[in-house]
Amino acid sequence: MVANTNFTKAKAAKNDEFYTQYADIEREINAYLEYDANVFRGKTVFLPCDDPEWSNFTLYFAQNFDRLGLRKLISTSYAPRSKADLFDYVPSGIEQESDRFDAEKTLTRGKIFVITDDRNLDGKIDLKDLTWDYLEGDGDFRSEEVTRLRDEADVIITNPPFSLFRDYMAWIMDGGKQFVVIANKNCITYKEIFPLIRNNQMWSGNGFRAGNAYFRTPHDATSYSQGVFDETTGLVKFRNVDWFTNIEHGRRHQPLQLMSMADNLKFNKKLKGKDAFDRYEHYDAIDVPFTDAIPNDYDGAMGVPISFLDKYCPEQFEILNANDFRTSDAVRAKPHGLIKDKDGTVVGDPKPRYARILIRSIR
Ligand SMILES: C[S@@+](CC[C@H](N)C(=O)[O-])C[C@H]1O[C@@H](n2cnc3c(N)ncnc32)[C@H](O)[C@@H]1O
Repeated sequence: MVANTNFTKAKAAKNDEFYTQYADIEREINAYLEYDANVFRGKTVFLPCDDPEWSNFTLYFAQNFDRLGLRKLISTSYAPRSKADLFDYVPSGIEQESDRFDAEKTLTRGKIFVITDDRNLDGKIDLKDLTWDYLEGDGDFRSEEVTRLRDEADVIITNPPFSLFRDYMAWIMDGGKQFVVIANKNCITYKEIFPLIRNNQMWSGNGFRAGNAYFRTPHDATSYSQGVFDETTGLVKFRNVDWFTNIEHGRRHQPLQLMSMADNLKFNKKLKGKDAFDRYEHYDAIDVPFTDAIPNDYDGAMGVPISFLDKYCPEQFEILNANDFRTSDAVRAKPHGLIKDKDGTVVGDPKPRYARILIRSIR
């Protein structure tokens, strides 16, 4: 919950500038490659909403161009002057040293970087084979110009601006391509996103190491709640951010090892002193407070924490619904969801305290 507050704070500050770590990109892409070594072979990979001169996405795909067997790599940036927060922007060396450099365009235009072949004839295709130019517009992913690049691509990968995530996913789904994206985990309860999850058009990726997502930021500690920004590394840490994709990976097909309802009540330490398996008031389902407490012998609908999706195996469970308690069709739970004051007196409307996903075992 702490991380959540930090995230909301950062969002409220219109802070869309979080840069992804190389090791996190490598780890995520490796999970797709382990499942299918040829997943990117012969494909055009497009990295929108990037800052290619500094981005680890561009660096990773450029340096692994040959190994992945890419056909083409395209990455685009957003004009500094269009960004919500124009921090101390300095054009990169690549740009400043080029004949094409333009002091006005560098601020008002997006840029496009492309790799297709071994231009410098050094026997390998990598970052040194990159060509660049200014875009006609500012590089907004919603522009016609960038949408054309989306349509040309086979796979679209980025960490998009968090404040435009709904628009970004609508744009991605409209393109109908493969994608990998970083997002706030709560996005799965958004009414625009949940149907994609339920219909298996989008699922959790392999994930950040131990669930900790570290990003580089141009801001300092004063922009974040205590403990989020690390002065030594210059990184911010979020625990409520994850990878999402429609590309297969192995973890998605590993079923959870679970106990029966009776064994959970007897042996699952987390359930001690907790209300477990209560029936909701307005929905025919039981509440399961922890993913590892999902009973393997219950045939009806179960409300599970949204973190379940990290462990979701489509051969094991079917996703039925989501109860985002911030929407009007909230599923109310009793008694764990009642809001009580310090003396235990029930106050206000009964609402579930946590977002839940409703699932059912596949038999
Ligand atoms: C979360 S950062 C991630 C940057 C990079 N992809 C990475 O992961 O290191 C999102 C980037 O999208 C840019 N951006 C913001 N609004 C945009 C828009 N409408 N179209 C394209 N890019 C946008 C931001 O300026 C920022 O550079």
